[in-house]
Formats: sequence, structure tokens, C-alpha cells
Amino acid sequence: MTQADFVVVANRLPVDRTPDGEGWRRSPGGLVTALEPVMRRADGAWVGWAGQPDVELEPFEFDGVHLVPVVLSAADVQNYYEGFSNDTIWPLYHDVIAAPTYKRAWWDAYVRVNRRFAEAAAASAAQNATVWVQDYQLQLVPKMLRELRPDLTIGYFHHIPFPAYGLYSQLPWRKQVLEGLLGADVIGFQRVADAGNFARAVRRQLRYETKASGILVPDEKGGTRVALAKAFPISIDAESYVELAQKPEIQQRAKEIREGLGNPRKILLGVDRLDYTKGIRHRLKAWGELLEDGRATVEDATLVQVASPSRERVDAYVQLRDEIEMTVGRINGDHDTTTHTAIRYLHQSYPREEMVALFLAADVMLVTALRDGMNLVAKEYVASRTDNRGVLVLSEFAGAADEMGSALLINPHDIDGLKDAIVRAIDMPAAEQGRRMRALRKRVRDHDVEDWSREFLEALATFHDTASSAAAA
Ligand code: F6P
Repeated sequence: MTQADFVVVANRLPVDRTPDGEGWRRSPGGLVTALEPVMRRADGAWVGWAGQPDVELEPFEFDGVHLVPVVLSAADVQNYYEGFSNDTIWPLYHDVIAAPTYKRAWWDAYVRVNRRFAEAAAASAAQNATVWVQDYQLQLVPKMLRELRPDLTIGYFHHIPFPAYGLYSQLPWRKQVLEGLLGADVIGFQRVADAGNFARAVRRQLRYETKASGILVPDEKGGTRVALAKAFPISIDAESYVELAQKPEIQQRAKEIREGLGNPRKILLGVDRLDYTKGIRHRLKAWGELLEDGRATVEDATLVQVASPSRERVDAYVQLRDEIEMTVGRINGDHDTTTHTAIRYLHQSYPREEMVALFLAADVMLVTALRDGMNLVAKEYVASRTDNRGVLVLSEFAGAADEMGSALLINPHDIDGLKDAIVRAIDMPAAEQGRRMRALRKRVRDHDVEDWSREFLEALATFHDTASSAAAA
């Protein structure tokens, strides 16, 4: 068995099956791009699920990375992935926008599957290797891994929000989850507020002491060690968006998109996984009312809403799709003409090239999440706008709002405020668009996903070294 000096553990492997079901292709995510250089340098391994139930695969090499598939049975997918991860933790950590379901059988599956990931990581890591665990599906892995392999340096990054204590404390297994995460040397969050919520939960539930970003955790030998809980906001591979946006064929495609919509004066755009956290209903309501009030017409503007299919077997997602599709049908029925539409709704996923063409075509980008760890679409939009045009309307409840103060920040629950912001965005003079867009682009280009992974891994290495020399002294 190959053992690597650097191991990533994530719910999914960084590859998808090709459409013929025979081979593999790299999945489009930014995390894969960010980690690629580190993986190559360190001869890294990636432990994860191949995305289909009951598929037993031997470890294999892909694009210079050693992939270690973890098998999930159909019951594991139901209980660990759809159940505990996406119907308990996901809604609870997104401020109970949907009601979380607490089922003991789901928790049992979550513990079992987390152990399977921890064992696979332990078997894949060389002596004194660094293991980086990703996201809420695997919160118990850091502690399990530390027990199996005390020699490892363990990092964990939490891609979604960590909720305020009053909500977190609903979780029947709140202590076990905190202990699981504290198995890591460094626990990274998107926002300063997430790290603060975590530290508070640790103080209240476990009574551990916290000092600045450090948490004093009792160790196996009766002493204490320090774990670091800190914000490391994630970003995107900005240059790849810049390159695509400068390609003549993509600029041509943006023109075709506008023509295909009947050349409306302005195009509004929403791009989301079809998820109740994204505030798609609030966005549709605001747009529908603007048309109803006569403050906009379908010749003035069309809303293109890409809602990519997601978690389609979880009830809350099934219901959401029905509601959204009914609302879109009603608004279009009331306002469409034979040549123009109020909403062009696309329940599909697109390759990155098509997304960049859509970003270039969009005069206004609407990110109205009710709660979101970061929201990378906001960053992708501004990275693509090499022409310094376009307006980003951004929810203050998305992590991106902490860094993107030059957007039009909105509270998506305030429908009147959202309507005013949309009108302001549609009418914004070019000079103001340019001023805001330049500031937004600077931030995203100065802090891309490679900076994110480097900063996290440097903090992890430094922190682990300091902590072990302090323990040895
Ligand atoms: O960051 C949230 C997240 O759950 C990621 O872990 C995942 O890559 C993405 O959303 C898509 O979700 P899923 O893997 O459930 O399709």
C-alpha cells in the first residue's frame, strides 16, 4: 500500500465518472485546483467516496494523484450522506432555515462511516505525514485519526457556517462533534464569526479554556495540547476565470446568450445549487413584485436563474424544487410576451466555459443566500468581469460579504430592500460600476484559492511544530 506525506480526506473524490461510465475525469471544483500543486509536490493521496453506492474500487492513480476510494453502501448513502450530513447537520448549521431531523440511526451511520474514512486515511499516510480533513460530513475524523495515528499533523477545514451556540446546542451529539473536531491541530473556518461560535460552544459544552484563537484540549497523557480555531476564508482559482473571460469565443457566446433572450436592456443572473439556503425564493419574489409594480418590464430585464440539481432524494430539496418551479411558472405566465421572458429557468449544470459566458452577459449578479459559508459564485462573477462592468448584489449572510464590501450588500429577508437594490443595480452608472468592480476584483485576485491553501497549511505546519516543541520542553 502506497503511503503519502500529504493526504486529503473529503466526502467526495476529486473525479467524476465520464458519461460512458468507463473512465474518470477531474471534477470542476476549486478545491481540486488549489490542492493540485501541493498534492504533486508531496506525492499526495486523496481519500474519498466515488459518488455512487456499493462501488468497490481499488486505489488508483489519476493525473499524478493517488486516489483512495471509500465504499458507501446504499444504506450509508441514505443514513450518513442524505440523512445525518444533509438533513441534520446542513439545516442546523445553516440557522435552521429548514428543520433539522435528529435520528439516532443516522448518527450511528455517521460514526461508522467517519471511522471508515479515518481508517482509510490512517492506512494511506506515511510516518509524520500531514492529513487535511474537509468539511461537515467528516467532523469526527480528526479525533478518530489522532487515536489511530498520534504521529500525524491533522488539519480540518469547515466549508459551511458554524452556527451560534443557541442553535448548535440542539444537537443531541453536540459534545461528540466538538470532541471530534478538536482532534485536529488547526480547525479552519470561513468567517471570524464561525470560529467564535465554535470556541463558545467548546467553552459551554466541554468547559475547555480558550485563549485568543487557541483552545486548551486535554490530551491522552493527562496533559493539555493547544488546538487553533481560526478563520481562513476560501477563494477561487481567479486566473483561470480571467483567462476564460478573455477568450474571443467566450465573449462571442455571451453575445449569443443576450440575443437568445431577445436583447433585453439588462440581464440579471442567479447561479446556485438548488438549495433552500440560497434564497432563490426571496429573489424570485422580489423580481416578481418589481414586474407586478411596473418598476421593471420584461423588455427592460430578464432574470436568468441557473439552479443546478442537488441532493435530489432529500425531502426538503424535493419540496423546494416544486415551489420554485411553480413560482417561476406563475411569474412567467403573468409577464412573458412572445419575444421576452421574465425568468429563464435552467435546472441544469454547465461547464465552466458556459458559466463565464453567462457571467459576461450578466449586468447584475444576484447572490441572495439566507446563509452561506462563503459563496464562490460571487467571487467567480467578479473574477470574470475583466471589463470592470457589472454589479454584484450580495447577501450579508454569505461569508463572501466579509471581504466584498464594495458589492451592494442586502438583507434577503427584507424584500423591499432587495427590490430597491435590484433597481439600483439595473440603473447604476458605468463609473460607479467600474469603481466597485475594480475594488472587488482586486480582493479576489490578491487572495485566490492557492493563497488560501498555502496560508492554512503554513499555519498548520508552524502550529504543529510549536505545539510539539512546547510539549517536549
Ligand atoms: O461546501 C458544501 C458542500 O457540501 C461541499 O462539501 C460539496 O462539495 C458541495 O457542497 C456539494 O454538495 P454535495 O457533495 O452534497 O453534492
